[in-house]
Amino acid sequence: MSNNIDNLMHEDRRFPPRDEFIAQAIGTADLYTDSAADRLGFWDSQAKQLLHWHKPFTRVLDWSDAPVAKWFDDGELNVAYNCLDRHVIAGHGDRVALYGEGEPGDQRVYTYSELTAEVKRVANVFLSLGVNAGDRIAIYMPMIPEAVIAMLASARIGAVHTVVFGGFSSDSLRSRIDDAQAKLVITADGGWRKGKVFPLKPTVDAALDAHGGGSTVTNVLVVKRGENEVEWTAGRDLWWDEAQAGVDAEHVAQPFPSEHPLFILYTSGTTGKPKGILHTTGGYLTQAAFTHKNVFDLHPETDVYWCTADVGWITGHSYVVYGPLANGATQVVYEGTPDAPHPGRWWEIIEKYKVTILYTAPTAIRSFMKLGREIPGKFDLSSIRLLGSVGEPINPEAWIWYHDIIGGGKAPIVDTWWQTETGAIMIAALPGVTTLKPGSAQVPIPGVVIDIVDEKGVSQGKNSGGLLVISEPWPAMLRGIWGDPARFQETYWEKFGDKYFAGDGARYDRDGDIWLLGRVDDVMNVSGHRLSTAEIESALVGNQIVAEAAVVGAADETTGQAVVAFVILKKSHVDDQTPAEASALLRKHVADQIGAIARPSKVYIVEELPKTRSGKIMRRLLQDVAEGREIGDTTTLTDTGVLSIISAQVH
Ligand code: WTA
Repeated sequence: MSNNIDNLMHEDRRFPPRDEFIAQAIGTADLYTDSAADRLGFWDSQAKQLLHWHKPFTRVLDWSDAPVAKWFDDGELNVAYNCLDRHVIAGHGDRVALYGEGEPGDQRVYTYSELTAEVKRVANVFLSLGVNAGDRIAIYMPMIPEAVIAMLASARIGAVHTVVFGGFSSDSLRSRIDDAQAKLVITADGGWRKGKVFPLKPTVDAALDAHGGGSTVTNVLVVKRGENEVEWTAGRDLWWDEAQAGVDAEHVAQPFPSEHPLFILYTSGTTGKPKGILHTTGGYLTQAAFTHKNVFDLHPETDVYWCTADVGWITGHSYVVYGPLANGATQVVYEGTPDAPHPGRWWEIIEKYKVTILYTAPTAIRSFMKLGREIPGKFDLSSIRLLGSVGEPINPEAWIWYHDIIGGGKAPIVDTWWQTETGAIMIAALPGVTTLKPGSAQVPIPGVVIDIVDEKGVSQGKNSGGLLVISEPWPAMLRGIWGDPARFQETYWEKFGDKYFAGDGARYDRDGDIWLLGRVDDVMNVSGHRLSTAEIESALVGNQIVAEAAVVGAADETTGQAVVAFVILKKSHVDDQTPAEASALLRKHVADQIGAIARPSKVYIVEELPKTRSGKIMRRLLQDVAEGREIGDTTTLTDTGVLSIISAQVH
C-alpha cells in the first residue's frame, strides 16, 4: 500500500455533492461549526436528540479516570427500548425493521412491533434461565434475524453479549467463552453458506466438551435453521422456539446506567491472545446513531438500508444492530455469501428490496469488479442513492467502479475509517457537505479530534505522514480490554500518553485530507478482517511437525492482504511428507485451529528464518520475499545468506 501512496495522493478526481443531494441532506455544515465551537456541548445535544433517557444525564464527560472515559454517566437508559419500544410508541410499529433474506431465498419480515414482541419474549427466556444484568451471553449464529434478536434481548436485560463470528473454530469459541465467563450460549443448528448447510451446534458442543467439559456455560439455546441433525445434551440444550412458548409476552425494559457494559467483542492484537474490547451503553449508542444518521444520510421513512457485514464483527454491531435500529431504519439482513446461488445475488437483493443505501467492504467490490460489470448490469440498481465502504482502504479504481457501476454515477461514496475499539465511525465524509476524493477517507466526523503524528508524538502538517492518533476522548470509545486493564493501557496509551494510538499509518495530503496506509503493527487486514500474525504463528507451532513459524500479510489484489506463512519443520518430521503435503496439512491445521478466515493462502516450508542478532524474526524482510519485492535493509541480520535461500525456495 505505502509504496503506491504518492501516486494515489495525486488522484485528482473530485466529486462535489450534487444539488439534489444537498437539498435533502440530513448532515449539514453546521455540525462541523457547532462541534468545533463546543465539542462536549455538541455531544450533549446529540445524546439528547438521538436517544431516549429514562433518567436524563447532567454530566457529559468525566475523564478523571483516564484512559477509561465516562460519558453521560449519571444518566440511565435501555438500549433495546431505544432500538424498539420507542419507535412503536411513536407510531412506527408497522414500519419494517428487518427484511431477513435467507441464502436459499426464503424471506422473513419483522416490523418494529413484531421485533419488539419477539425481543421481549427472548428477554424473558434469558431471565428464566437465570441470566441477569451483567452476566455474559455468547452468541454464535448465522446472519439471521435471531442473531439481532438475541443481541437486543441481551441488551434489554442488561446482560453483556459477546458475539463470536460463526466461521471461528471450536477452540476460538471456547477461549472467548472462557475469557468472558459466559453463562449462556446462543447458536443455531446450522446456517446456509455457499448453497450448503454449515453446522454450528456441533462446534458449540466441541467447544463445551473441550478441556474436560467444565465450562461456565449452563445452557445452550438453539435456533432451528439448517434442519441438520444435532446432538442434544438434556438439561443444558433448549430449542429457541420451545423455550419461548412458556414465557410471558410482556417485558418492561428497565433503565441501566450510561456506563453499564453492553458487549465485549474479541479482536486480534499484536500478541497471540485476542483482546476482549469492552463497550458500554450511552456513549456508544449516541455515536453509533449519530454516524449512522449523518454519514449515511438516513431518511428512516423512505430508505432501505443494507450493511453486508456479519454481526460477528464490529460493523455488524454498530451498523446492522445498534445504529440503524436506534434510528428506526428499515434494513436488509442477508444470511449468505455474495455468490450463492449465482454471482448476481447481491444485486438481485438490491433490486428485490429497492435498497437505497449499501454499506460494504472494498474486498467485495474488487471481487465483483473481477467478475465484470455485466453481472450487476442485469439488475435494476436505480434505487441506490448512497454507498459506503469500510474495513480497509478503497483504492481509487475500485471507488470509481463502485460509483459508476453500482451507484449509477450519482451516488456519493462515504469511505469510513474506524475500528472495533472506536465503536463507531471516526473518519468519513458527510455526503451532503464534503467534496469526495476517491481513495481518501478524508476528514474526522464532527465531534471527533484526530491527528497524524511522528514517532515522538509531534503533529504533522499537510503533505506529511506518520501515525494516526485520536487526540480527545469520544463517546463510543472502548472502555477497556475485558479483564486486562494493563494491556489496555499498554496497547493504546503508552506510546503517546493522552492520545489514543490506533495502530494505523496515515498521511495528510496537500489539502489536509487523511489517507490511511494500513497497520503499522503485526496485525493483518485480510478482506477487511483483522488477523494477528502472532495468533497464526502460535497455531502453526502448535502442530507437531513444526519447529518454527513466521507469518506475514502480503499484498493481495483482491483481499488487500493475504496470510503467508514461512515454516521450519522439526528435523524428526521433515521426511514424513513432501513440502507440498506439509504445506497443505498446515493450511488446514490453521483453519481448524482458528477458523477458515485465518487459513494461510501460502505456507512455504523453509530451512531457516531471517533473524536479528537478538533473535527477533524480521517479518518485514519476509514480506518483501512474499510480495516478490527487492529485499530491504538486511544489515541487522545475523546471516544475510539466509534470505537468498528463502527467496530461491519461494520463487
Ligand atoms: C482498517 C473495522 C482504511 C484499519 C471497522 C483499522 C480501514 C482496522 C478503514 C480496524 C478504512 C478500517 N480505510 N483502513 N475506511 N476501515 N480500516 O477493528 O487498519 O475490524 O485499524 O474494524 O481496519 O479493523 P476492525
